[in-house]
Amino acid sequence: MFRKEIYIERRQKLKLDIKNGVGIFLGNSESPMNYAGNTYNFRQDSNFLYFWGIDEVGFAAIIDFDSGEEIIFSDDRSMDDIIWMGPTRSVAEKAENVGVTITKPFREFEKYISKAIAHNRIIHLLPQYRAENSIFLSEIFNCKPNEINKKTSLDLIKAIIKQRSIKSHDEVFEIEKALETSFMIYNYAFRKAKPGIREQEISGGIEGIAHSRGRGVSFPTIFSIHGEILHNHHHKNIMRNGDLVVLDSGAESFMHYASDITRSFPVSGKFTSVQKDIYQIVLETQTEAIKILKPGISYKEVHLHAAKTIVKGMKNIGLMKGNTEDAVESGAHALFFPHGLGHMLGLDVHDMEDLGENLVGYDDSTSRSEQFGLAFLRLARPLQPGFVLTVEPGVYFISALIDQWRAENKKSEFINYEKLEKMIGFGGIRIEDDVLITEDSCRVLGRPIPKSVEEIEEICQN
Ligand code: GLY
Ligand code: MN
Repeated sequence: MFRKEIYIERRQKLKLDIKNGVGIFLGNSESPMNYAGNTYNFRQDSNFLYFWGIDEVGFAAIIDFDSGEEIIFSDDRSMDDIIWMGPTRSVAEKAENVGVTITKPFREFEKYISKAIAHNRIIHLLPQYRAENSIFLSEIFNCKPNEINKKTSLDLIKAIIKQRSIKSHDEVFEIEKALETSFMIYNYAFRKAKPGIREQEISGGIEGIAHSRGRGVSFPTIFSIHGEILHNHHHKNIMRNGDLVVLDSGAESFMHYASDITRSFPVSGKFTSVQKDIYQIVLETQTEAIKILKPGISYKEVHLHAAKTIVKGMKNIGLMKGNTEDAVESGAHALFFPHGLGHMLGLDVHDMEDLGENLVGYDDSTSRSEQFGLAFLRLARPLQPGFVLTVEPGVYFISALIDQWRAENKKSEFINYEKLEKMIGFGGIRIEDDVLITEDSCRVLGRPIPKSVEEIEEICQN
């Protein structure tokens, strides 16, 4: 937990943006895995963590923006709880640690909201993503669970996004702790992945490292010889000589700040010549994108710059042709790079995505494109000092997509379908780092993880 002043300050800042009504913050509860008593690892809601710091089940809080009053609702542990889970500090002590002096039993939370509704007060509710919380709130708001998100407060959402988008030094320090775990994870995976081994031996080890150093992984690990499947959580393949694996993984620090790194490497420890060609294109794309990061540039512009670097590289090896600008304008590059260049990173790996992807990543100056590929860009708006974001270009050979485009002769003025034939089965390559936008440029966070062809071959053969 941070110092109590940090939480006080964060709530004060919110009060500067919201002047009336009641802000509602519902923490997460246990979520059953296969029966009620056997639960998933508890993960507190990130907005609750950000403003109230308490990383435990059974908490809720309100801010009365008219009076400035703050209340935490929770129950002290019963004797039964103490027997099964052990003793803990009182709710009042936990509240005091985050600068809150008023606490009430959890059942008072429901009464408080009902009273506020009865008095026609403005209620500032955040989007709900957990069934348990949606059901709980829908009963208070007297609506169907799937209607609860119609009652959310755009003002509160926008105020939180404004605040959480700018990371403090303490937050960047936490992200770098998670990145230190990533450093350990990648050094482990580079050395241990070998022909003849099943992917899950490595992905299991990765989960162990993340759990041993923090709160576990920040999202399900992607570790696959089928890197062309973007979010591949299947780890059953046996790695063979000549295979290239994509490892996209992240860890959470003890305070739940995330890292998100991707490296692609040859299982044998040596890139083939064609693997090296594609790898260099992706690496150059990432390097060139990072070079232009600075406050004021829109991330959409950086994404399009990355797309152009990919097209130039693919033209050099004969897989694409024609005018680079026109190819990117038409979206032809998305056959190989069908996702966005990156996203915000913080307490969530896709930071604040619960609050709405468009509200986090877009603003009045940027709207979401409908073009295939570009439509998946999660962050497009102009960058500001204090943003932490990922830069993760990739090149993939997705046979179903290639088959579809070729059958339609789609963008054939830019794509060399004949040459592409021999790339089917290649897989994919992605490279990802986490970057802080500084006052005049940017800083790649964390200890450097091997990235050049030479560095990767050296560590994989070690
Ligand atoms: N690292 C997975 C993702 O960004 O979607
Ligand atoms: Mn990512």
